[in-house]
Amino acid sequence: MRSCAPASTAGSSPAREPASPGLRAQFPALAETDAVYLDSASTTQKPLPVIHAVRGYHESRTANAGRGSYPWASRLTAEIEDVRARMARFVGAESDEIVFTGGATAGLNAVTLAWGLTNLGDGDEILYSPRDHASNVYPWLHLRQLLSGFGRTVRLVPYRVNAMGEADIDDIAAKITPRTRLITVGHLHHVFGALTTLEELRGHIDPRIALCFDCSQSGGHLPVDVAELHADFAVFAAHKMFGAPGTGVLYCRRQRHGELSPFLPGGNSAVTVDDSGLRAGAMPRLLEGGTHNIAGILALGAALRVLNEFGMDAVAAHNRALTIALIAGLRRVRGLEFTPGPAYAPCETGYGIVSFTLAGISATDLGFVLSEFGFLVRAGAHCVPDGEPDADSVRVSTHIYNTFDEIDRFTECVATIAEEVG
Ligand SMILES: Cc1ncc(COP(=O)(O)O)c(C=O)c1O
Repeated sequence: MRSCAPASTAGSSPAREPASPGLRAQFPALAETDAVYLDSASTTQKPLPVIHAVRGYHESRTANAGRGSYPWASRLTAEIEDVRARMARFVGAESDEIVFTGGATAGLNAVTLAWGLTNLGDGDEILYSPRDHASNVYPWLHLRQLLSGFGRTVRLVPYRVNAMGEADIDDIAAKITPRTRLITVGHLHHVFGALTTLEELRGHIDPRIALCFDCSQSGGHLPVDVAELHADFAVFAAHKMFGAPGTGVLYCRRQRHGELSPFLPGGNSAVTVDDSGLRAGAMPRLLEGGTHNIAGILALGAALRVLNEFGMDAVAAHNRALTIALIAGLRRVRGLEFTPGPAYAPCETGYGIVSFTLAGISATDLGFVLSEFGFLVRAGAHCVPDGEPDADSVRVSTHIYNTFDEIDRFTECVATIAEEVG
């Protein structure tokens, strides 16, 4: 187990204080409701600086970036590059390794199309988890289908998830062959709430095998360092880290830049044309094209400032403490069964996501009943590909703005519903 001290040394009850006083006032949507928002894994609430960034772009000196030379435009060009540099620092990367995308899904599709299409040969293999988010499964299925049209057969080799919800490292290790070209993992699983870092494999596998991390759930929730992860590719969803929807980031390790082909060739992308066709230019614009989501990128910049002010260690510690309290409260509920995840860990751990089912009521109905009591959670299949187990559950997810009182009231409400349906 990683990132998980035994309960005896972790202390039996983590501090039950809000991360910082007055913090909730920064999230206006929370101030105007009595509802308890426990769905931050779907999207986070937006702090005032993010709201102001989106509004400010549309309200004053609106221009396109990367084009005009007049001050409104050149200021925006500089701001976008500043956000790129700050995002790079936020995840331990260099600016030219940071590509702005339309989201995590777009980032993963960029990896499959800009890297996979040109680098995978007949008989090559990719290791993946069919229980990951569809955005980290379907792009690989799509790539296999596209390549088969070119007469190349790529094998998608599934690996298992263990009871704690982590990728089963022994299973991955056993399935690596000389034809393995890439391993893709969900860094923090969106249903199970478990962390997979692949650290056990480092130094033991062929360094040419590319590692791809879906950091949609970990970005903005705990410190993420792509260099520490030895990631070749990593994707982030800005809207899950206080930013706006429709914005994301693809990290692409510099050593892989020579293997990339253009992703969105067009205006504003780094390609040139000669007699032989398109020539790939420099990263990161090799994988970008067209007008950036300027408002979204500025919002991400504001979100990064807010996250840095809170401090990622403090965010992670608060989510961990809330998760431990949540698991302890739910353990007392009769008929409740946790999906794989930190509830089965041998020591107290947690990253702000817990999922479960309750005997006598479907997850969808339970989600509906909970919303009637003012608790906003996600219920259903959670974008896990069709046919996978645990595809129907209630997911509770927290962030820095959630309180212990909310967790206590939530677990009491689940206990009351359990008594009614039991
Ligand atoms: C693990 C995971 N990957 C990918 C995505 C897709 O992110 P986006 O909405 O930015 O495309 C999500 C969003 O729910 C997710 O939870």
